[in-house]
Amino acid sequence: MTSLSGKSVLLVIGGGIAAYKCLELIRLLGKEGCKVVPLMTKAAEQFVTPLTVASLAGTKVYSDLFSLTDETEMGHIQLSRAADLVVVAPATADLMAKLAHGIANDLASTALLATDKSVLMAPAMNVRMWRHAATQRNLKTLIADGVLIVGPNDGDMACGEYGPGRLAEPDEIVAAIRASLATHPRVLAGKKVLITAGPTREPIDPVRYISNHSSGKQGYALAAAAVDLGAETMLVSGPVHLPLPPGAQVMPVESARDMLKVVEREVPCDIAIFTAAVADWRVESAANEKIKKSGKDAPTLILSENPDILKTIASLKSKRPKLVVGFAAETENVLEHAKAKLASKGCDLIVANDVSAKGDVFGSDQNAVHLVSANGVESWPRMSKAHVAEKLMAHFAKLIS
Ligand code: CTP
Repeated sequence: MTSLSGKSVLLVIGGGIAAYKCLELIRLLGKEGCKVVPLMTKAAEQFVTPLTVASLAGTKVYSDLFSLTDETEMGHIQLSRAADLVVVAPATADLMAKLAHGIANDLASTALLATDKSVLMAPAMNVRMWRHAATQRNLKTLIADGVLIVGPNDGDMACGEYGPGRLAEPDEIVAAIRASLATHPRVLAGKKVLITAGPTREPIDPVRYISNHSSGKQGYALAAAAVDLGAETMLVSGPVHLPLPPGAQVMPVESARDMLKVVEREVPCDIAIFTAAVADWRVESAANEKIKKSGKDAPTLILSENPDILKTIASLKSKRPKLVVGFAAETENVLEHAKAKLASKGCDLIVANDVSAKGDVFGSDQNAVHLVSANGVESWPRMSKAHVAEKLMAHFAKLIS
């Protein structure tokens, strides 16, 4: 069971080259037990066939405003209200403009205007169309009207140009749908949560660096869970390959010293969670030019210790967050090391996990954690990182209430 099972989404498919990605979106939603009712514009039918969409969704495709059969089976007003959420993917410049101006001249635009549910749009269009003042004006209007937006992403476009305008990836849209449908009590509304995530990169020269295997998944899952609970969520992230959690403010950083700078700027806050795998050392003087092979000895790297971000923040006097949480990634004697870190770092809680090969945590979607605090140890069974994140955020919310 996931938070999407039993839910239903009205998926408005706009006419753009990215329409093919909605097939994967339908598949992913179906896998999570979410019902998808597809509604295609006439233009969308030029890009994917209604037959393919209907086969994947396992239900008929709606497209005609004046279809007598559809109106007797399920009127367009009812169609727009029967779902838990209306998703537009791809949301073309045309669909955005229509909704921003209240134009309803086909089934898609009529459903969007008639719905009493939230609307989530995933825009996709040529980069110049996206940057056009008219589209940006419409975007502002839609956001002000409460329309939720996911993407677009930067990247190569089907038209050969590069820039923002690519449809968000299907898994990013699923995450945004999950966040839009979240029914958790917003116990962290009005609270600020700061999370560090991912690895840091310490440059050796302009093309080489020291880093580690952290995927950032647990930190990103915590950010999504904090957003779900209504927190103002700041995610200070090292380089990772993960979709941005919708609703969180992501601040990308590279080195440990960059990360510390941003974190220091963001305190005070209510809860600070340090999941980042900060590189313990950096190269004392990184070369300004690429180090060349001299044909003689290999270069010697002189390392110096990086600042401890968690310890620095935990020892703040006036700006100390109400709750400071560290993570401990250990390969042996997990609990002893975690207890020692709780004391040495001065934090309120350590979430410890086993990252040895048998623990299978790095890059995995699963995690088994132990909560180590002055009150003792609480061990949780192995579960998904998303579930760990939900439980942890709920636990932290209780601790500061
Ligand atoms: N941490 C940090 N800044 C550092 C090192 C660690 O903020 N320079 C934080 C991590 O984000 C984590 C906690 O400290 O919350 C423990 O990190 P870990 O790498 O397990 O501990 P270290 O202090 O680096 O100790 P060691 O590598 O020797 O186990």
